[in-house]
Order: sequence, then C-alpha cells, then structure tokens
Amino acid sequence: MRTRFPFSGIALCAALIGVGITSSFAADETLRSLAEKNGIYIGAILNSQWFNGGLPGNYEQIHKTQFNIVVAENEMKFDATEPSEGRFNYNNGDKMVKYAQQNGMRVRGHALAWHSQVPNWVNNYKNDKQKLLKVLKNHIENVVGHWKGQVAEWDVVNEAISNNEPQWRSYSVWYQGIGPEFIDSAFVWTHAVDPDAELCYNDYNLEQGINPKAKAGFLLEQVKRWVANGIPIHCVGSQTHVEDTTTDKHFIGSPDSLRSLARELAKLNVKLKITELDIGFKSGINVSKSDLERQGQTFRQYLDIVLEEPNVDTYLIWGVSDKWSWLSGLNRQKGLIYDDNLQPKPAFDSILVRLQTFEPPQDTATTDTTTTDTTTTDTTVTDTTTKDSIGLPIIPQSAGLGSVTMHIAGHTLFIAGTLSAKVDVFDMQGRPVFSTKCEKGFVELNGIADGLYMVRVRSGSANLVQRIAVK
Ligand code: G3I
Repeated sequence: MRTRFPFSGIALCAALIGVGITSSFAADETLRSLAEKNGIYIGAILNSQWFNGGLPGNYEQIHKTQFNIVVAENEMKFDATEPSEGRFNYNNGDKMVKYAQQNGMRVRGHALAWHSQVPNWVNNYKNDKQKLLKVLKNHIENVVGHWKGQVAEWDVVNEAISNNEPQWRSYSVWYQGIGPEFIDSAFVWTHAVDPDAELCYNDYNLEQGINPKAKAGFLLEQVKRWVANGIPIHCVGSQTHVEDTTTDKHFIGSPDSLRSLARELAKLNVKLKITELDIGFKSGINVSKSDLERQGQTFRQYLDIVLEEPNVDTYLIWGVSDKWSWLSGLNRQKGLIYDDNLQPKPAFDSILVRLQTFEPPQDTATTDTTTTDTTTTDTTVTDTTTKDSIGLPIIPQSAGLGSVTMHIAGHTLFIAGTLSAKVDVFDMQGRPVFSTKCEKGFVELNGIADGLYMVRVRSGSANLVQRIAVK
C-alpha cells in the first residue's frame, strides 16, 4: 500500500516543472536480490577468520544479505580436508555448507588439485606415479563424495598453467609426478562421484588476451582438446585478481580480453565464471575518491560480462571487506567492495546501480509464432500510479522504509518523512554524478544534465532507490 506523508512543514518554494519518473526500485533491493532477478550468482568468500569466529557480526549479516554463492577461502583445500594420508577433516567445510543451506546460497568447492596448499605427505610420493594417482583419486572420491549434492561446482584443477610462456606449471607435484594427464583424470574421477556438479578449471591472469602466447590462449587449446576427448569440463574459472589500471603499468588485463575468452568458450559450450575478483591498488599509495570511483567502474565492467554473455553466470569476489583480504601478500590494498569498517565503497554502488539498470536484451532471435489476433484490445493505459494533491506520481516506498518518500520535479528532488537524508545520484553506468545531504526537505540537483539517472536516498536504515528522468 503506497502511503504518503505531508512534507514536514516545508514550504515548497521550488516550481514543480516537468516531471520525469520512469520507474523505482524497492528500497530493500540487494546485490543478491538483483542477481537473482537477473539469473546470476554474486558472491564472496567466507574469509578464514569467519571459520575461527574472528569477524564482527555484521560481516556475516552483509554476506548472507548481499550474496547468493559462497566459497571457502582455504577450508576446502587439500591441506585442510586431508591433512594426513587417509585422514579427512570436513568440519570447517561442513560449517560453511550448513551456513549456505540455512541461507539458500550456492556452494563452490575450492580446490581439489592444486600445486599449493598440498600437505607435505603428498610430496613424499612425487616420484611414484601410480601411488600419486591413487592419492589424488582417493582424495577426490572422499571429498567430493562427502559433499555430493551439496557442493554445486568444483574447482577440480587450479592454476596448472605456468605464469610465463604458456606451458604447464612444472613445479606442481601433480605435474611432476603424473604429467599433465592428471588434469584429465581429476575431472573424470570428480564427475564419476558427482555427475551433477559443475566442474571447472580455475586460473588467474586469464584476462590478458586469448592469443596463443597468452595463458588464456594456451588454456583454450587445452579446453578444446578436453572437450573433444569427452573430458567432463563444464566451466573455466577466471580468478580475475587485477590491479587498478593506473598503478600497475604492466597491467595488461582487461574486461574486454576476458569477454573474448568467454565468447571462445561459448563456442565449446563451456561456461566462464569470475571466481576470485579483486581490483587492488599498490600498497602504500594514497587511494583517492576518484581512484575508488574508477575502481567501481572496473568492477562494473567485469559485471557487464556476467550480465551480457550468456555463458557467464558467476561474479564472485575474493573477500568482503578490505580489512580481511589476502591482497597485502601481493603488495596490494583496497581491492574489495566494502571498506575496513564494512561500509560500502563506490564499487558497491556501481555494481548495485548496474544491476538495477540492466535491461536484458530482447530476444529477437525467436521465430514469430504469434497468431493474428483479431480481437480489438483496449489500448488506453490505465495509470495506476498514485498521485499526490498536485498530480505528481508518488514514488512507491518500500516496506521497512517507514515514512520516507521522494518526488522529483525537473531538477528538484523533494524528500519527505525525514529531517536528514544522504542523496546520491548515479548515471546509468553506475558512476556517481552528484552527492549531497538533504536537510530542508528538498535538494536542487544542480549541474546535472537532462537525462536518465538513478537516485538513492538514505536515511537511517531507509534506502530508497529510483530511476529518474531529469528534464
Ligand atoms: O592456517 C595457518 C595457521 O595455522 C598459521 O598460524 C598461519 C600463520 O602462518 O598460517 C595459516 O595458513 C595460512 C592460510 O592462508 C590460512 O589462513 C597460510 O599461511 C597462507 O599462505 C594462506 O593464504 C591463502 C593463499 O590462498 C594460499 O595460497 C589465502 O588466505 C587465500 O586467500 C589464497 O587464496 C588463493 C586461492 O586459493 C587461489 N587463487 C589465488 C588466491 C590468492 O592467493
């Protein structure tokens, strides 16, 4: 029920000219609710501190409110699940699976065969191929079997390709002891245990082009071979640990390059998933507001791939808050979408606004199956918008907003039901264009050109978002 409250004694001096209401969004929309509307997964790791109870309560509150897919930062890796030969430890993984089930979230399993975080006892067998094959097969059968039907997708193999010239990573115990065919076997064994799970090859620096000399180019050749040989690979995970363009002069990764990889994989009927996204700045430099806004645009550009490429469905960020991030180990900082105080950064705004403004392409490819409809239809549109006393549409307030409402008229935004509100205006690409505090019941959106925008009004727990046409 839309209700309106009289402006709190504010004499409305601004002339109400031109009205541009296009549509509005429920104030309680989250990255999760918008992701689900768009049929994609948006997620973040559960940092290792979560498993040890070392995080503030609002971390989990944010996590389960904003995300619909989860992966453990370290707790499902080889060293965590089989710390000694034949002895399996599922406790932390079970804790995460239970959390995910309680909160209706999809679970990613990370990672079955990786050169890193392999317990020492495995390395004892690096010169015994048959034994190493048995070790890997037994690990996969036990771990995947334990979470069968609960873990929806697995990073079966992680980072098996060398960083330099495109070739296999030679210092992997699996490569050294078995050869590159450990990959084929790992996928076949995993699929045999859980045929319903999506099986991914996961790696980093895949956003640097698909020419044969690039890592992604080498990977594409392997995926073509695996697919041709009937290896059950369903997806490629692009970790996407990238650095902000202006601080990393060697930065050669880009959203466009990753999109090219997605399109090549689509030809093979293989998905691409963004699995470990962070967009860091070099440690030690001062990160300005405009740097953070640019970071938000880069986050949005990677999200565009997920929204626009049919074979891309996952946007997973390798952390929630800058305060708990592995990035310092990479001499980077501030790569996530919440700050040290668990407050949303401009990157959060960019992602949210992009999800709110995304219009799925109309499917023009369908064959015309319409039958000729001879009935006359009443084309008059009944305007069901509730209007106020002067004929202005009332922007629906969402449940939980209390009494806060807003009206836009020309360049004047009227806000009622609160004495103080934060007003942020974004362009349709999620870029912030105007920000102010409203304490008079209205704000002049000065300096904003006519056009479509998203305006967000925050007051206490209220968070009202709507698309506006300024004219
Ligand atoms: O558990 C031990 C603890 O007992 C000990 O006291 C402590 C101090 O040494 O170390 C703890 O282990 C650490 C582990 O994280 C759990 O916190 C390891 O030292 C540390 O190296 C490990 O770092 C993880 C890293 O993978 C290992 O390679 C990061 O948290 C994790 O974010 C990172 O994640 C990887 C992905 O799995 C694969 N893609 C790259 C990504 C970033 O490196």
